[in-house]
Amino acid sequence: MSQEFDLKRMTAPDIRARKGGEPIVALTAYHAHTARLIDPHVDMLLVGDSLGMVMHGYETTVPVPLELMIMHAQAVVRGSTRALVVVDMPFGSYEESPPVAFRNASRVIKETGCGAVKIEGGLQMAETIRYLSERGIPVMSHIGMTPQAINTIGSFSPRGRRRSEWAAFEADAKAVAEAGAFAVVLEALAELLAARITKQIDIPTIGIGASVECDGQILVLEDMLGLSPRVPKFVKEYAKLGASIEGAVEAFAGEVRARKFPSAEYTYPMYEDDAEVTKKTKMTGS
Ligand code: KIV
Repeated sequence: MSQEFDLKRMTAPDIRARKGGEPIVALTAYHAHTARLIDPHVDMLLVGDSLGMVMHGYETTVPVPLELMIMHAQAVVRGSTRALVVVDMPFGSYEESPPVAFRNASRVIKETGCGAVKIEGGLQMAETIRYLSERGIPVMSHIGMTPQAINTIGSFSPRGRRRSEWAAFEADAKAVAEAGAFAVVLEALAELLAARITKQIDIPTIGIGASVECDGQILVLEDMLGLSPRVPKFVKEYAKLGASIEGAVEAFAGEVRARKFPSAEYTYPMYEDDAEVTKKTKMTGS
């Protein structure tokens, strides 16, 4: 494999081609420094609008502005070289009509350098997905539990745990695949339903709380690192960084209060040839 190939950034068609193949690995990223750490290990970096809740203290993703997504996406693109960067279109930036969606999505693509956008919604968004895809904007769809719809759906609870719910989600998945989405996120869906959808459509399914039956998996980085105060059942914490941060901060505070930090190791001494002056200053205090 040539070095040139190694350095190439993944594209939406690369992800699309992984249907049924090697599982697709994706994580959210909101900053340049975390993007840099994650980039070598994942296929896709999602600048998710979950950043509104995780980073900015909003209760839901609904208030997130387009400008905030653009700023975080620019940082993630600057911090990565390999993975496909996908940016969430926030609530209110694409639902009105396909041309409005194109205007905002093209801004995201041009101003950030990302390779694709994500929009929530199934059947009702199919026309928009087709409009964007046919005009040079790759779209990842997001169906199942769709957080931007919280004010109409009422809760973040899992979907499809009753067979009577399946038809609607299967219709959503088929509609977005037929409209040209290159992949679809399935959020908080019952395992059996995720397995059926994954078999029924010819684009990769990326699960978040939708079982190992999907073609790939995504998690919110801060959740899997143990930085989030509350996480859904489907999150496995691969680290406990929240506890590490608290421990480090407690140790720092204790050493500052005890005048132990900064010790000599972290202090600039005078140059050797100025040693006399130093000695005198220490003795006289002036
Ligand atoms: O915003 C986000 O982080 C997402 C993931 C949960 C898929 O949409």
